[in-house]
Amino acid sequence: MKTARDERVSEAEIAVHWQEEEYYQPPVPFIKQANLADPAIYERFAPERFPACFAEYAELLDWYRRWDTVLDSSHPPFWRWFVGGRLNASYNCIDRHLARFKNKAALHFVPEPEDEPIHHVTYQELSYRVNEFATLLREVARVKKGDRVTLHLPMVAELPIAMLACARIGAIHSQVFSGYSAKSLADRIIDAGSSVLITMDAYYRGGRLLDHKAGADQAVELAENGGQRIEKVLVWERYPGRYSSKAPLVEGRDCLVNEMLKGYHGCRVKPEESAAEDPLFLMYTSGTTGRPKGCQHSTGGYLSYVTGTAKYVEDIHPEDVYWCMADIGWITGHSYIVYGPLALAASVVIYEGLPTWPDAGRPWRIAQELDVNIFHTSPTAIRGLRRAGPDEPAKYDYHFKLMTTVGEAIEPEVWRWYHDVVGKGEAVIVDTWWQTETGGFLTSTMPAIHPMKPGSTGPAMPGIYPVILDDEGREIPEGSGRAGNICISNPWPGCFQTIWKDPGRFVAQYYARYCRDPESTDWRDWPYMSGDGAMQGEDGYYRILGRIDDVINVAGHRLGAKEIESAALSVAEVAEAAVVPVADEIKGRMPELYVSLKPGFTPGEDVRQRVTAAVTAEIGPFARPKQVIMVPDMPKTRSGKIMRRVLAALSNGEDPGDVTTLANPEVVEEIRQIRNALSG
Ligand code: WT7
Repeated sequence: MKTARDERVSEAEIAVHWQEEEYYQPPVPFIKQANLADPAIYERFAPERFPACFAEYAELLDWYRRWDTVLDSSHPPFWRWFVGGRLNASYNCIDRHLARFKNKAALHFVPEPEDEPIHHVTYQELSYRVNEFATLLREVARVKKGDRVTLHLPMVAELPIAMLACARIGAIHSQVFSGYSAKSLADRIIDAGSSVLITMDAYYRGGRLLDHKAGADQAVELAENGGQRIEKVLVWERYPGRYSSKAPLVEGRDCLVNEMLKGYHGCRVKPEESAAEDPLFLMYTSGTTGRPKGCQHSTGGYLSYVTGTAKYVEDIHPEDVYWCMADIGWITGHSYIVYGPLALAASVVIYEGLPTWPDAGRPWRIAQELDVNIFHTSPTAIRGLRRAGPDEPAKYDYHFKLMTTVGEAIEPEVWRWYHDVVGKGEAVIVDTWWQTETGGFLTSTMPAIHPMKPGSTGPAMPGIYPVILDDEGREIPEGSGRAGNICISNPWPGCFQTIWKDPGRFVAQYYARYCRDPESTDWRDWPYMSGDGAMQGEDGYYRILGRIDDVINVAGHRLGAKEIESAALSVAEVAEAAVVPVADEIKGRMPELYVSLKPGFTPGEDVRQRVTAAVTAEIGPFARPKQVIMVPDMPKTRSGKIMRRVLAALSNGEDPGDVTTLANPEVVEEIRQIRNALSG
């Protein structure tokens, strides 16, 4: 029998089937200095200690007022953590460190051009800069507590400064990845209802100084057409005093931040005493429909969770130099570049540009220069560096104690290069599985406790109780060799609070499918559905297979199939579009786009290019399809549904299975031939 599921693209289904791998033991010198080497933590976070166990993470923070209730679960699935507690995130990431660490670097900003000096921002200087900018936000942009402020900033020190300034005054920041197009930025401005946009004139990427402000102007116009007026655009300058964009400044609307800040020298703002449940930020992610989801994260629960997990899994001590080579525009950067590491008083590296610029030795030169000892990145970056410079790490004198990988599954072979060559056999590796929605890590080995296993993420984090469910909601046991939908059976403090302005979609998307009783007020009836396929080994380690819904994870960033398809459909000749994930050597997966044309149009290079251009313009260059394949018709069910599954099989050189029940089975062979001819 065919079910609706059969029409879905499933990454889990095209996942590679790796063998079980050998264990690697954590190095003894690492264990000796680790924040956590005692497995008793798993007893402290045992199910019978839930939810009180999570107070251990909250106690890592400074509170103006202690919470009354650790977890209020009376309105499922809208969990409320540390109710009654009051705190400020910027206070916890800056002020409380000043007594001991004011002259220590908080940020090391590394410009992409190698001849530009590294900027070392001490905690003291960070405090000045955040306070001054927070004053400007209040006085010039009139930002108040609870207002949403959209940021479209590249990887520069001004990005965490702007986030922390928002947090200081209780405003909700919404940073949109700088690679997103003006259209995507506008959609997020509208959804968040922001009237203030913070951007930068220009930034370096791949050796070029890109004009960034021009995109802001377009986005403001598109947002206004969509009903959301931006009153103020705050523009930082990449080179203060030397405006580097061709876009003119709009009188009354645009302000040059660096210029204006001169008038706020030494100004201080008392941190807002936010309730634990006040939102700290929105982070948009792609879903199965075209509309992005604004994941709303709390102040108290989120900050507690990322601080606790950064301390134990990233093993951050104040004396560490920590480099997460990801973009702050994604959740990884929010949790494990900004909030977690700064709450722990680490020195954090922020690198502006491409890892392989000007050559694949760059990351290792940065590590050597700054004595980086914790390194965090994605399998995509590791694959890219391995291909471009397999022998580069050995040329540089740096020593990592810990490295992480996140965002997608890592092939064991790539893992071993990371371990042996990048880590020089000295570093422990953690493979952390989590999502934008979950705020922090869900599964990972504890670096000084568990052996590592390439390709597996490890057991669940303390206090996290995953279950793998089949389509009927039955539990798939560990060691069964079968995969299913991985869910978390209990709430945890890092979990997002809701989808901004759309609580119905929040419930429908994450809880409805496996909720045992919609009337129940017992959290046990409300498992969180992650949307990933997974299996659990006999050793309890989870292996994540990928998305089970219409979402494609490209280089560790989620893209909705619908978003890409509707961009393709904006090209006049296109009648139908279907996107599927295709395996890619460097990026793990890429979107491959099938299009059919309206009657009377002939396929050609010109249409293909315009389809690619439409996707790049609507979403951003990182969504560019690997190939656009023009087909006479899509494989369809008798009821007219496009069978993306069949296309996914063709794209990945797999057997599409029984296609005789299709309305047009003959088209499958035709498509295969067209695709083969294209791929040469
Ligand atoms: C999706 C979440 C987590 C922050 C970066 C991405 C995939 C994430 C792993 C891992 C295999 C992973 C999942 C997940 N994923 N980590 N260690 N092994 N797959 O955040 O954009 O919200 O994407 O990334 O499919 O659902 P995101």
